[in-house]
Amino acid sequence: MTSDIRPQPGILDIALYVGGQSGIEGHADVLKLSSNENPLGPPPSAQAAIHEAVTRAHRYPPTDHAALRKAIGEVHGLDPDRILCGVGSDEVLQFVCLGFSGPGDEILHTEHGFSMYPILAHMAGATPVAVPERDRVVDVDAILGAVTGKTRIVLLTNPGNPTGTILPAAELERLADGLPENVILVIDAAYAEYADGYDGGAALAGSRPNVLMTRTFSKIYGLGGLRIGWGYGPRALIEVLTRLRQPFNLSGVQLAAAEAAVRDRDWVATCAALNASQRQRLAGALRQLGLACDESHTNFVLARFADADEMAAADAALQARGIIVRRVAGYGFPEGLRITVGDAEQTGAVIEALTHWREGAA
Ligand SMILES: Cc1ncc(COP(=O)(O)O)c(C=O)c1O
Repeated sequence: MTSDIRPQPGILDIALYVGGQSGIEGHADVLKLSSNENPLGPPPSAQAAIHEAVTRAHRYPPTDHAALRKAIGEVHGLDPDRILCGVGSDEVLQFVCLGFSGPGDEILHTEHGFSMYPILAHMAGATPVAVPERDRVVDVDAILGAVTGKTRIVLLTNPGNPTGTILPAAELERLADGLPENVILVIDAAYAEYADGYDGGAALAGSRPNVLMTRTFSKIYGLGGLRIGWGYGPRALIEVLTRLRQPFNLSGVQLAAAEAAVRDRDWVATCAALNASQRQRLAGALRQLGLACDESHTNFVLARFADADEMAAADAALQARGIIVRRVAGYGFPEGLRITVGDAEQTGAVIEALTHWREGAA
């Protein structure tokens, strides 16, 4: 880069996103529990749709995503005209930041919120502002207290990542009620399907002029590798986001896979049930081992150790057995390990490794 060329303000403030580790030296076969992926993989229905769609790879995909939006609308009881599909929910969140904030504006997120939020704020030239949580739960009063004349957007992970905790519907509503009307509340519900009785914020996004909900096919639908997400909210806001979307942002393969997956309600029920049972088993075992662990409403649990050294020792013990989990110091938990809930065998392997480590450490 020559000295006369300067990037837009904020771009060089972006700390590059660090994804979940996927390999361990010396281990050909690892158990990857670091990125909250579905242990059952992609649903067979979506795999069949992918194979079929590949034969049409020479054709440009539809630009309006009509079939996928219709399917999402039918399954979730939402108006398809108020749905926007993106390259992962990350892209939808990016459109929100780009469309509604810029230099001089603030984007609020909570201290343990999803690590993409500051990145997306900087992309828009806006300033990310972290608001404290209370005992790893989003604090509505703290958010409302942090709103200034510069605040444009509140990005809320619910349920939380990496905390796994959830803000109940009444609290979400209180937050929406308390925000100025010119501030957009984004409810990032990437893990909604794992939280019993939670609509992901759909009712609020359906009834308020300043609330949006984002969802993903990366978690319970097992399609993280294909990159598909969506947002839902007031028509006026969706019309803005649509203008930022490239016409061919989603390929025919992505669209076909997502449509098959969203219509596969049995798959979602199967995965949710497996997750609930293994999550309870894993959390119970962690507590038995004397580790702190909040009730999770997601497909991972956050294990909290005595300190960073103990966490590192446990992580090393897991890695020695080829198990990769996520260190979350960057999320404000230097003593924590976020462990994706796997199937019964995988969960058993984690419990066995930690039990063995505890016994050895005792
Ligand atoms: C809270 C949260 N929001 C959004 C995302 C991004 O998901 P996607 O794969 O749809 O971009 C993730 C992914 O881990 C997440 O944890």
